[in-house]
Amino acid sequence: MTDKNKLGFETAALDDEASALVIIDQTRLPNERKILRLTTQKEIWDAIYLLQVRGAPAIGVAAAYGIYLAARGIDTTDYDVFVKKFSAARDYLNSARPTAVNLSWALSRMGKIVEAGREDGVSEIKKRLLAEARAIQAEDIEMCRKIGEHGLSLLQPGMGLLTHCNAGQLATSRYGTATAPMYLGHERGYGFRIFCDETRPLLQGARLTAYELSEAGMDVTLLCDGMAASAMRNGWVDAVFTGADRVAANGDAANKIGTFPLAIAAKRFGVPFYICAPSSTVDLHTPTGKDIKIEQRPAEEVTTMWYKERMAPEGVKVFNPAFDVTDADLITAIITEKGVLRPPFTDSLRAAAKA
Ligand code: MRU
Repeated sequence: MTDKNKLGFETAALDDEASALVIIDQTRLPNERKILRLTTQKEIWDAIYLLQVRGAPAIGVAAAYGIYLAARGIDTTDYDVFVKKFSAARDYLNSARPTAVNLSWALSRMGKIVEAGREDGVSEIKKRLLAEARAIQAEDIEMCRKIGEHGLSLLQPGMGLLTHCNAGQLATSRYGTATAPMYLGHERGYGFRIFCDETRPLLQGARLTAYELSEAGMDVTLLCDGMAASAMRNGWVDAVFTGADRVAANGDAANKIGTFPLAIAAKRFGVPFYICAPSSTVDLHTPTGKDIKIEQRPAEEVTTMWYKERMAPEGVKVFNPAFDVTDADLITAIITEKGVLRPPFTDSLRAAAKA
């Protein structure tokens, strides 16, 4: 394993023998630090679907190691047989969650290694796949650090910063995206006041963000999602930082459900609204937010899952989209590892992709 993050564990990594994907089970946090060792494709698919490993960049890293493990287990020296089995495993993992583009992005990167290796033999391809998966993880750390530096350049000591869901180190390999400026500022004595939305229905803000930022020693206040506008009206919030699961070519950004109303409230109160995302989350093949597939999740997540007993009448209809799209005109800037990108995003995102 590579060295650990500030919480003392990896979000997603390979074990020392490169024979299992090791994750911290995020559904158990903050009460239990349960480490899972996953070897089969079904276990890895389930871990992604059940949000045991979650957050766009971390899903990408888990998928890269997952498909490497699938490739490692394909027992053939015949390139065509290998490709057929590899492609089936890739399609299977890709079906786990539809909105975070990092999943298909990482699998497609791994697929290109296979395509390029026809003349080199299956055993060489397997070595290259391992190296590529490790590179995806290392690049994620570097991209998040740079996002942190760019984000911090917009901030002053003592500011109040609001975030939604978990775009923290639990959603990435290190630092997080939206939290990266918070971590770097904290290390440099900025004394930020952090507000975390609890993030209904799966409580990533309460269970994960409030947990990891408190563990790091930051000043954290937890809010129910519906309280964010009141915090803004009180003048407590100087900027909103969220992550993204997919940024379309025009700058529309899909992120955890509840991000869009937050952006509307921020506009109402003149609070800058920043999306932080590595370039692996920018999807120039998706023209606008309308083209982003939004994952629908089971009703039980809303009615039952976090309660001792059911908290809604039997048979009530439930609308449970996992993400919403924030329109580009509500976004002050998109912060990637390439810099602080300003509107019009159609131009700035394309220019950044070429830089
Ligand atoms: O459903 P989740 O928990 O995977 O949703 C995560 C988010 O919406 C994050 O904000 C996003 O993936 C960015 S992670 C750096």
